[in-house]
Amino acid sequence: MRNVQSASLECSQYSNLIIGPNGSGKTSLLESMAVLSQGKSFRNSLKKSIIRDGQSSLTVSALLRAIDSDSMETRIGISKFGGGKTVAKVALEKVQRVSTLSSLLPVCVIEPNSMDIIEGGPSFRRQLMDWGVFHVEHGFIDHWRRFSHALKQRNALLKTGQKDSSNQLDYWNRILVPSAEYVTNVRQKYMMELEETLSRSLTHFFMDDGIRIVLRDGWTDAGGYSECLDKTITKDLRYGFTTIGPHKADLEICAGNHLAKDYLSRGQKKLAVYAIRLAQIEQLQRKSGRQVSLLLDDLPSELDTNNCEKVCKEIKRIGCQVFITSINNTDLNSMIIDTLDPNVFHVEHGTVSV
Ligand SMILES: Nc1ncnc2c1ncn2[C@@H]1O[C@H](COP(=O)(O)OP(=O)(O)O)[C@@H](O)[C@H]1O
Ligand SMILES: [Mg+2]
Repeated sequence: MRNVQSASLECSQYSNLIIGPNGSGKTSLLESMAVLSQGKSFRNSLKKSIIRDGQSSLTVSALLRAIDSDSMETRIGISKFGGGKTVAKVALEKVQRVSTLSSLLPVCVIEPNSMDIIEGGPSFRRQLMDWGVFHVEHGFIDHWRRFSHALKQRNALLKTGQKDSSNQLDYWNRILVPSAEYVTNVRQKYMMELEETLSRSLTHFFMDDGIRIVLRDGWTDAGGYSECLDKTITKDLRYGFTTIGPHKADLEICAGNHLAKDYLSRGQKKLAVYAIRLAQIEQLQRKSGRQVSLLLDDLPSELDTNNCEKVCKEIKRIGCQVFITSINNTDLNSMIIDTLDPNVFHVEHGTVSV
């Protein structure tokens, strides 16, 4: 993985602190865990270069222990090859989909680009919401795949702009509609169930409850998705794609009467990201009984020490597993060590030591 040729970490079930100078390989270590859980890195722009220069593949594996039993162990692993091929394994057996690894090892990432949740386009917020929905609703992934496939076919038909393709449009609509409605329903249920935990979490970070999150489902549901598609068919044919549906859903994040993106300071936006993601983690753990691994890259960026401490205390209360990267910042590291009592790893030139 990048500049880390090989490394083996005896991780704490709870807190882990990775210390090293710039360019030593801290983020690369976190990326390896993201790859193991999600099949890809969180550093989008550098996706292609995660394999170490001069190597043809990378492999990450982990031995997962059940929270309540030391004897229950599962080995999971993933290899990625230069040509784009991915091989995922559970207990040495190949599995078809990386999502099998994701459900065994739920990983949540907070890093400087997570600010996109507040500042970026709707896709970042859909991704955030669907991360949670995926882990609590087992039917979600299949419905989402079916929906995406049918949507692609429908859009291809719309692009041709031919009215006489209505039979084929009907065919794809019949596949599209039930999955779209399922996806919308489970998203609504998820956001409703998250509400209480989220408002507690926002209060912890902001001391008031001025932040609200509203789900916009991407279509108005009066009469169902099928009727909505009928109503917008002229528009869809004109644009050459499906203009309404769960692929257009968004979360509206408001602070007071404003959109959070236009109103909050950078530090407050970052806190809002922590509040939302930690609430999701707490909720997932409570509902599924599984422990989430949180990858926290660059904790102090945009946050003062007091807020960093708030984050650490909340992580401790929730009881998730965490990997925090840090440069040699004595004050910050002492605070993390005092609050979380982590296993500490030092990284230098891609080599990890304890
Ligand atoms: N594919 C690669 N092969 C080898 N080294 C790489 C590759 N991609 C990035 N690097 C190098 O890996 C180093 C570690 O990067 P990173 O993990 O981001 O460091 P840190 O987070 O500790 O600042 C960087 O110096 C970078 O140049
Ligand atoms: Mg880094």
